[in-house]
Amino acid sequence: MATKIKTVFFCQKCGYESSKWMGQCPGCREWNTFVEETVKAASKAVSSAARGSALTNGEYKKPQTLSEIIMTDEDRFDTHIGELNRVLGGGLVKGSLILVGGDPGIGKSTLLLQVAGNLSGDKRDVLYISGEESLRQIKLRANRLGDFSDTLKFMCETNLSNIEEAITRAKPQVLVIDSIQTMYNEDVSSAPGSVSQVRESTSVLLRIAKSMNISVFIVGHVTKEGQVAGPRVLEHMVDTVLYFEGDRHASYRILRAVKNRFGSTNEIGVFEMQEKGLMEVTNPSEFMLDGRPVNASGSIVTCSVEGTRPILIEIQALVCRTNFGFPRRQANGTDYNRVNLLMAVLEKRIGLQMADYDAYINLAGGMKIAEPSLDLGICLAIISSFKNKPISDDTIAFGEVGLSGEVRSVNMSEARVQEAEKLGFKRCIVPKALEKKLKTSCKGIEIIGVYSVSDAMGLI
Ligand code: TYD
Ligand code: MG
Repeated sequence: MATKIKTVFFCQKCGYESSKWMGQCPGCREWNTFVEETVKAASKAVSSAARGSALTNGEYKKPQTLSEIIMTDEDRFDTHIGELNRVLGGGLVKGSLILVGGDPGIGKSTLLLQVAGNLSGDKRDVLYISGEESLRQIKLRANRLGDFSDTLKFMCETNLSNIEEAITRAKPQVLVIDSIQTMYNEDVSSAPGSVSQVRESTSVLLRIAKSMNISVFIVGHVTKEGQVAGPRVLEHMVDTVLYFEGDRHASYRILRAVKNRFGSTNEIGVFEMQEKGLMEVTNPSEFMLDGRPVNASGSIVTCSVEGTRPILIEIQALVCRTNFGFPRRQANGTDYNRVNLLMAVLEKRIGLQMADYDAYINLAGGMKIAEPSLDLGICLAIISSFKNKPISDDTIAFGEVGLSGEVRSVNMSEARVQEAEKLGFKRCIVPKALEKKLKTSCKGIEIIGVYSVSDAMGLI
């Protein structure tokens, strides 16, 4: 029977599917993003996957109880990169599909080459397939990173059927695909990187990963808006989605799990790009506070929690008289609307008259955090800059600020205070509700509980 070919239109931004061309995408409201692509009426991948899930060797699979499912610790590989292991939820799960997204040049290929090198050092068979760089280019990079074992093999290929054949022959335990936007399936007529190609390629890799129990890392490029280029469905298909972010001009990089079927999604890993590749930053607080000004107004340290890990961050505020009738507000690294809201609270509840003042808020080090526990720190930094009164260097403050100016409690307070204590801070301004608990559990640091922002203002 001849395969029925049909064409559909896909939005190249969000993957919205339509049978006719449209000027504006109803999914993401972008203009001129629809491109016609041919798809097969019934995808081979889908039908075989559907068959495979119901039948094994001609017999129907029996449903199993939890005690019948056998699991060992060996179900995860150690990547020998502590920060990555943590983000993955305790190591690389066998047979899982991991999408690594990030801006060009951020270090995706470097990270995956290091992971591949570490795993091959443990005598695991690793296959690194690149559609972007030549073998010579990979070798140049590898030479900078150190020695590699012979169980790591490289291949430059973009045709998926050749890749599939290479995998079936080599039977690696770990596979790296750099990048999914360069891969193409001959059965799909649209260009590599288009929605249907990316989707089809991922579904082929998914089938391979699950049927041969291979862990697959897929590199995905991101669009200007910071999403993995191609359809959202890509994120639904894979087990784990990691984003590699950070300022290209700053040396540190953050690996963040935005989806993880095998662990928490809030975890982050911190790396620093050096001459010999990415190095782990095991104590990010120290790294973030490096170069902090002494005795400067508008600066205070606060503690944010990323996943299970507390990180100390310096908040800087600069409040100065506006030159135009309309005051400027700017927030770097934190939520702009939240900063506006906090300034309104300060104006109404404390009487800080800021209508004639510009205000700039910055999280030093380029971190991006939108946690409510930063509120108190942001308020104090603004007050300090407004009054031109420095806050003592050994003080940290955290707590959520409500609309009536009250300071509310936040989670994981003990971990936050302990982190501050570890780094030599002497004084901690916390929500009143947490004062008693923290005073009993953290003895080495002075704990001061406050009911409201105006209470806290009296302390600086
Ligand atoms: P790369 O890993 O190719 O990024 P991506 O695959 O995400 O596009 O590039 C990383 C950048 O880091 C590149 O600009 C060069 C730099 N770099 C180092 O500073 N040190 C190193 O050891 C390596 C390998 C790269
Ligand atoms: Mg690359």
